[in-house]
Amino acid sequence: FRHRSAKFLITAVNQGHYRHLTHPEVAFAGRSNVGKSSLINSVLCSQKLVKTSKKPGHTSALNFFALSSRAGPGEISIVDMPGYGFRSRNEWGDFIVEYLSKRKVLRRVFMLVEAKVGELKSTDENFLDLLEEYKVPAQLVITKADKLKSADTDQISSAVIKQATRIAPSVLLPQAIYCSSRTRMGIDVLQAEVLSVCGL
Ligand code: GTP
Ligand code: MG
Repeated sequence: FRHRSAKFLITAVNQGHYRHLTHPEVAFAGRSNVGKSSLINSVLCSQKLVKTSKKPGHTSALNFFALSSRAGPGEISIVDMPGYGFRSRNEWGDFIVEYLSKRKVLRRVFMLVEAKVGELKSTDENFLDLLEEYKVPAQLVITKADKLKSADTDQISSAVIKQATRIAPSVLLPQAIYCSSRTRMGIDVLQAEVLSVCGL
């Protein structure tokens, strides 16, 4: 990623806004405040490209970023999704459903779960239902791992994977990624996944 450059593209709330973007794409989803925007900054090796906040509900639309190779062709899009479960139990706009159901270039959704929480909440389960319904490939990212003692990590991730696999058996990858934006633990693994799923 050091040999690539990242930039902000657009903020979108409907297909018309992003239809012209046709590169392979990945998206980051999860409950409000789980650290999606911070994680994208870490993956892109940028400090402030994506706005983050202590207050939940900060990202309220789909934000598209481009990652290009400085050396040659090969560009991908990375989408920061608004968090769910902040205003009401099951709250996401129709544009989220439209995005998940119709976005052909979307290769994988990385679904973040906070390590310390250690389980899926009902909003996570509802989101997994959507992924399963629209057959969107997904991978769990257990994040803010710096808040935990490392001995607890395996137990937590296997419990969360088990719970999620029950809901989205046909789309969820069997492997979760454990990481922290604060310590950069696991960021290299996540970067490698992003590039390989986008064919780079
Ligand atoms: P919304 O856009 O509101 O849905 O939130 P988000 O998921 O984009 O979260 P964001 O990246 O804005 O981070 C929320 C808060 O969590 C901020 O105060 C971050 O500093 C903090 N945070 C993010 N990643 C980590 C991490 O890896 N470890 C710790 N300890 N804190 C983190
Ligand atoms: Mg955000």
